[in-house]
Amino acid sequence: MTDCAGDSQDVPSALWMELETDRLLGLRAWPLLETPSAVLKTQPVDATELAARTDGLHRLDVGKVRICSKCGLAGTRTQTVFGQGHAAARIVFVGEAPGFEEDRQGLAFVGRAGQLLTRMIAAMGLDREDVFIGNVLKCRPPNNRTPAADEIANCCPYLFEQIGIIDPEVIVALGAPAAQTLLNTRDGIGRLRGRFHDFVLLEGPAAGKTIPLMPTFHPAYLLRSPDQKRKAWEDLQAVMEFLRLPLPE
Ligand code: URA
Repeated sequence: MTDCAGDSQDVPSALWMELETDRLLGLRAWPLLETPSAVLKTQPVDATELAARTDGLHRLDVGKVRICSKCGLAGTRTQTVFGQGHAAARIVFVGEAPGFEEDRQGLAFVGRAGQLLTRMIAAMGLDREDVFIGNVLKCRPPNNRTPAADEIANCCPYLFEQIGIIDPEVIVALGAPAAQTLLNTRDGIGRLRGRFHDFVLLEGPAAGKTIPLMPTFHPAYLLRSPDQKRKAWEDLQAVMEFLRLPLPE
């Protein structure tokens, strides 16, 4: 994973990239469009069900994730990063692993890549609080190195459990490690993205359940390769269409 801190762009090109991102992500249209209140931003569960899912996530975090010492990352992390968002989200976004800022704050996607993810979610007409944002790994690999196979194998059951509790309508896998882990494939992200795949829950009360999964590019990659933003936006628009969220004109 590339750490995007310390970007050396000069101001004009950084500004251009911002504007280009906004344009490609459709943000130009959104401030003019109020999302109709009839639009379902989260699953329509009742208060009891929402409390049960919130409690389930909290128990998983406190009872398993925070005390996990299954791999060496337990010795190098500042803290675990469980992920955050709505317990009855319609969409779960899954990234690779916490970076420097996430390890420091204990929150997923709060660095530069996270800021772009926030804008991608806003371009869909949603807020971060409407969705759930997590990672394959709950601990930062030193120097943001790519997660090792055994770290993924040890950690991904927590992600599967999170998905089982939230039971989202769609999963968006950000980048190759997330897509490959969730789909149990070695295919690259360029090959996987752009169409829905089936994520199959193998364990827990919802075992056997299939959830549509859209792989797309990781925001950190999009920061380095802004010309790929159009494809990422197409992927997100397909998710919006699936969820019947209103598309910007
Ligand atoms: N990149 C990720 O994959 N996850 C984060 O939480 C932050 C950056």
